Amino acid sequence: RGGRRGLLAVLPADRIVPDGGVRRLVASLAQQAGVWWERWRHGEEARRTARDALIDQLPCGVILLDESGRVAALNSVARRLLAQLGAPEPVAGKNMDQLGLPLGSLPRDTDVEFSGRGDQRRYTLRWDEMPGPGESISVVLSDVTAERGAREQAMQAEKMSVIGEMLSGVAHELNNPLASVLGFSQLLLSQCTDERQHERLSLVVAEAQRARRVVANLLDVARVRPPERVAVSLDEIVTSVLTLFAYAFRVDDIDVEWRPAANLPPVSGDRARLQQVMVNLVSNAQHSLRQSHKPRRLTVRADEAAGRVRLQVSDNGGGIPENHLDRIFTPFFTTKAVGAGTGLGLAICARIAEEHGGTIHVRSQVGEGATFLLDLPAGRTPAPPQVTTGTPPADFAGLRRLLVVEDEDVFRQLLQEALSEHGAEVVTAADGAEALAAMAAGSFDAVISDLRMPGMNGMEFHAQVKRRWPAMARRFVFITGDVMDVDVRAFLESCGAPHLPKPFGLQELTDTLVKVVLAGEQDKGAVLNSFQGDSGETAT
Ligand SMILES: Nc1ncnc2c1ncn2[C@@H]1O[C@H](COP(=O)(O)OP(=O)(O)OP(=O)(O)O)[C@@H](O)[C@H]1O
Ligand SMILES: [Mg+2]
Repeated sequence: RGGRRGLLAVLPADRIVPDGGVRRLVASLAQQAGVWWERWRHGEEARRTARDALIDQLPCGVILLDESGRVAALNSVARRLLAQLGAPEPVAGKNMDQLGLPLGSLPRDTDVEFSGRGDQRRYTLRWDEMPGPGESISVVLSDVTAERGAREQAMQAEKMSVIGEMLSGVAHELNNPLASVLGFSQLLLSQCTDERQHERLSLVVAEAQRARRVVANLLDVARVRPPERVAVSLDEIVTSVLTLFAYAFRVDDIDVEWRPAANLPPVSGDRARLQQVMVNLVSNAQHSLRQSHKPRRLTVRADEAAGRVRLQVSDNGGGIPENHLDRIFTPFFTTKAVGAGTGLGLAICARIAEEHGGTIHVRSQVGEGATFLLDLPAGRTPAPPQVTTGTPPADFAGLRRLLVVEDEDVFRQLLQEALSEHGAEVVTAADGAEALAAMAAGSFDAVISDLRMPGMNGMEFHAQVKRRWPAMARRFVFITGDVMDVDVRAFLESCGAPHLPKPFGLQELTDTLVKVVLAGEQDKGAVLNSFQGDSGETAT
């Protein structure tokens, strides 16, 4: 029934001639065999359909091989991945060697990672023998590019946070001795009359300042604090940075073009940090232009689109090779000579862009220059008017008695010597408790206090002073030794006292002191005028 499917041959074992009974028996056997065959075939088809439906559901590529190692089935993901890997069509019936994925040398039941030939994608392949009848080998193929990218990003973030912690520690350790080196050399410089010694000391000061910049850069990469948010005019920033470089551009014969869009809105951000981005981008461009042929051109543009402001810094220098493009924003990547660059410039730019809710990208081709694109959210508020503070008198006459509170011996000695040079009487204390005792014993024109000290720290000390001698609490200048944590930042904001991060120049310190004392005197005048009497117990 249903046509012939096979042949059942019956060979006589001896000379017996099959009679009718034997023939019937053979016919019924043949019919049974036909029925079994049909059932098996239906079952097999159903099994394959179920198998194909099943493997098509899988998110990875699956290839099944028959006993001779040829492709018997594959799902659509595998078809796509094989095409991506450049395997020849048609795939069915070929063995894995012909598809460019020889299994022979690969271990069984293990993920083997490899990369595509033409593209930069990453794949894994795993094969195993299959139990039971049917196909004998399964091959699982996956595209893991995205996963690897995410893993690398997570590792990078982890690395950055470790680097960050390490850097703030190192910076703290460096800033204290640097503050002393800078301070003492400036002090010696101010007293030095010998010309040669003067020259040498100037070098010491310049080198200490260079070290200070390196430490500050390191901290910028590591910095965790959110940036300030004020309305900043990009026009102002670009103009000031280009002015800063104007002389260098002239020397290197670089033509500069600055094209801001009309009515460019301000961005909301941290002026100093945005300026730093601009300085880094411009100095990179300058470095590249110096090494390439004339005409040398630097073009800076700023445009607004869809609520964002885009700053473009383009040069027609040597450009960036393709295999460097995704590495230039990682810390410490540099192609400059050893000692010439830290490789931190663009890492800082990326960090600052991110802090502002913006992005930074690069477009470049070797020989055709580079364009850096900084996108920032536009702010709508107009730039606040510049507050002008009266210029402080340059003299130090108001500072007769000063209290220095600092736990680092060398730095305390420096402050004492430097301020005494100006004719002030300087009393020192190594922590808050000692300082309180000194204040109870005599009056001071101003207090210079470290914030982090063993025992009573600067914040506790200030609180005590505020309670006992409120007017004196407004005559503080704080010194900070490292990256400020949230508490310290909040404290400084609420008390309004100026603070100087170590290492600072002596001139900065004296200028700040003069300002504080001047403000204190004005305060006192105002209080006396309104109350016509004593403003309470004061230490001054
Ligand atoms: N405009 C540019 N043209 C060509 N290459 C550039 C440009 N800007 C950056 N690069 C490449 O990117 C690298 C990293 O730049 P980055 O500013 O992070 O560090 P650096 O300039 O090498 O060091 P530093 O900023 O400390 O001086 C550079 O060394 C250079 O190879
Ligand atoms: Mg740089």
